[in-house]
Amino acid sequence: MKIIILAGGGGTRLFPLSRANYPKQFLKLGGPHSLLAQTVARFLPLVAAKDIVIVTNHDHLHHVRAELSACSATAAHIILEPVGRNTAPAVALAARYCIDKLGADDNELLLVTPSDHLVGNPAAFVQAIRQASTAAGSRIVTFGVRPDKPETGYGYIQAGAKQGDAYIVDSFKEKPDAQTAERYLKAGNYYWNSGLFAFTVGTFADELSRHQPAIHAGLEQSYEALLERFADLPDISLDYAIAEKSDRIVTIPLDADWSDIGSWDAIYDVLPKDAAGNAIHGDCLPVSCRDSLILGHSRLIAGIGLEDILVVETDDVILVAKKGESQKVKEIVAELKARG
Ligand code: GDD
Ligand code: MG
Repeated sequence: MKIIILAGGGGTRLFPLSRANYPKQFLKLGGPHSLLAQTVARFLPLVAAKDIVIVTNHDHLHHVRAELSACSATAAHIILEPVGRNTAPAVALAARYCIDKLGADDNELLLVTPSDHLVGNPAAFVQAIRQASTAAGSRIVTFGVRPDKPETGYGYIQAGAKQGDAYIVDSFKEKPDAQTAERYLKAGNYYWNSGLFAFTVGTFADELSRHQPAIHAGLEQSYEALLERFADLPDISLDYAIAEKSDRIVTIPLDADWSDIGSWDAIYDVLPKDAAGNAIHGDCLPVSCRDSLILGHSRLIAGIGLEDILVVETDDVILVAKKGESQKVKEIVAELKARG
């Protein structure tokens, strides 16, 4: 088995902390190590570091190197995309690397994972990966998380009949609108897609040839040739490229205290809190504050009577938001982009 860690995204949902040059995977959340280092460490009970391939880009290379040192996994491979083309081309590049440089054949299992999630129960996580390696065969394995709200930022997996540890997936819908997500939640037989995938090299190539011929043509070339024409590949995520289209998907339930922590609200949820329910970092002086997140960086943050408020200070920005509304930072990011 080879582990492919996707670490090339530039998330904006954690503005002002996570910007283009310092995306979420490099943030230290839920422990002393970054989310990327935690991701690598999660797989070390299953494979040696030399079986891990991290796909990123030039801008993030020094961060990735530092994180690999932090988790004593410097033998992991780092490959650099010349340009970002989202996750389907990134995985094709990594798969080709595994074939050409690591001797992977058609039967080699590839486990693809995001690099910016938290997993509270690593033992249950390892167990789910083991189940997936048994269930894979010629199928695409996803990992389903029980949904508890109609989140529109996730993919939704409709689970059908059970087969061993896995469920046949009747349909997959990436990022549905709010109404549809609500309907899925009520229906009860939908999981969130956690963003991890497992498949063999052969199955991946088959699915690309059926649904993404341009990416398949890239995969057929040598690693060096693929790198050269990488910019010509379509910009598409694995979810839209394969998961929504394939008729051979299964899902393994992932009950491992998983969190995508894609918003300040989600970060508040995972951070330790004081008796008044405040999650506080840095030099802060809260008076009569409750259930708030205060992340100081370089200045003293003094608050009075705050309730359900999120405060995040960085060198150049102070974000103040009402808890429950932090998804709207994307409106701020869009406005800032428009301003140039
Ligand atoms: N190398 C590389 N290149 N990595 C990338 C690229 C790229 O062009 N784009 C994204 N990534 C990395 C991100 O850093 C992240 O670790 C992972 O791939 C997933 O990308 P996101 O951009 O975070 O995807 P998402 O959160 O919108 O959606 C995915 O994850 C959800 C769960 O968190 C999908 O798989 C959804 O279906 C899923 O529910
Ligand atoms: Mg994500």
